[in-house]
Amino acid sequence: MCMTLDRLGRPLRDLRISVTDRCNFRCVYCMPNEVFVSDYRFLDRKELLTFEEIERVARVFVGLGVNKLRLTGGEPLVRKDVDRLIALLAPLGAELTLTTNASLLAPKAAALAAAGLDRVTVSLDSLDDETFQAMNDVDFPVQRVLDGIDAAAAAGMPVKVNAVIKRGLNEHSILEMAAHFRGTGHTLRFIEYMDVGTTNGWRLDDVVPAGEIVERISAEFPLEPVDPGYRGEVAKRWRYADGGGEIGLISSVTQPFCGDCTRSRISAEGRLYTCLFGIRGHDLRALVRRGASDEELGDVVAGIWGKRTDRYSELRSEATVSLPKVEMSYIGG
Ligand SMILES: C[S@@+](CC[C@H](N)C(=O)[O-])C[C@H]1O[C@@H](n2cnc3c(N)ncnc32)[C@H](O)[C@@H]1O
Ligand code: SF4
Repeated sequence: MCMTLDRLGRPLRDLRISVTDRCNFRCVYCMPNEVFVSDYRFLDRKELLTFEEIERVARVFVGLGVNKLRLTGGEPLVRKDVDRLIALLAPLGAELTLTTNASLLAPKAAALAAAGLDRVTVSLDSLDDETFQAMNDVDFPVQRVLDGIDAAAAAGMPVKVNAVIKRGLNEHSILEMAAHFRGTGHTLRFIEYMDVGTTNGWRLDDVVPAGEIVERISAEFPLEPVDPGYRGEVAKRWRYADGGGEIGLISSVTQPFCGDCTRSRISAEGRLYTCLFGIRGHDLRALVRRGASDEELGDVVAGIWGKRTDRYSELRSEATVSLPKVEMSYIGG
């Protein structure tokens, strides 16, 4: 398989594609309501890469060694006809996944699976409506997310569930969620609250360290570590000693994993970012729209990746927290 290595020897393996910067939720850690008000400037439709343009870019990345494509956003399912995009991407042969808040998943799951989606990751931060609604800030009920998870599983797609834990907000949901998803076959992953973007008012004190989450769960349901499945796996894996399945911990604040990071991202308007904490993306849309060949596009992307030295999370400090950064809803989580 083709290997495109960066300056630190990390191969280009994953491409996360943001299909929209819009979302129907206003999660407090991502798109806080007071910032993303109605006059916030979201991208216009014509600024977005078309599905055909996305396929073209994704094909070039697969040619450079990418074996995993993830659709994200914003909320990817608010973009019309995403199943048509999935049908375009499926023949590329990379694993095809989607991260969603699941608000629109239940009615769409069967069509997404039929179009070729391999798996889904659903974000859910609590099982009680009061806490979940305080986090999504649009009064969205838990049950409809659970319905989305059931529909995805019924359509034959493995499901992972992502929970961002914020100190004082949903810590009490850790055990409840672990108990709920144990034995269901769905892998629950806890994510440390990150300083992405500049609008969520992130403070280190708000982070619940992954080690603490493991301790809390293990006290009730003993856990043992599992070896990583492959280089660059984002989540540290743990399994229930009694055979109740696995959980994952995404500890990018307390145990950064930049050294193994193989991920690239394109924003909905086609800018390439080589780190979640990037400032300026490289404009691939301009190249595509001026008629660049696949070969030229591939050379540009390989050149950008070849110069990559990003390791923001490893260098994170009080000073880096206040640096300018793009929003997670724009770059795609
Ligand atoms: C930006 S969202 C986009 C996809 C979709 N709207 C969703 O929520 O699943 C992708 C993931 O990023 C996570 N996320 C957003 N802001 C975050 C933050 N500040 N720290 C950690 N994770 C965050 C979300 O919880 C979600 O699992
Ligand atoms: S985390 Fe996902 S669902 Fe929540 S506001 Fe961000 S993009 Fe929307």
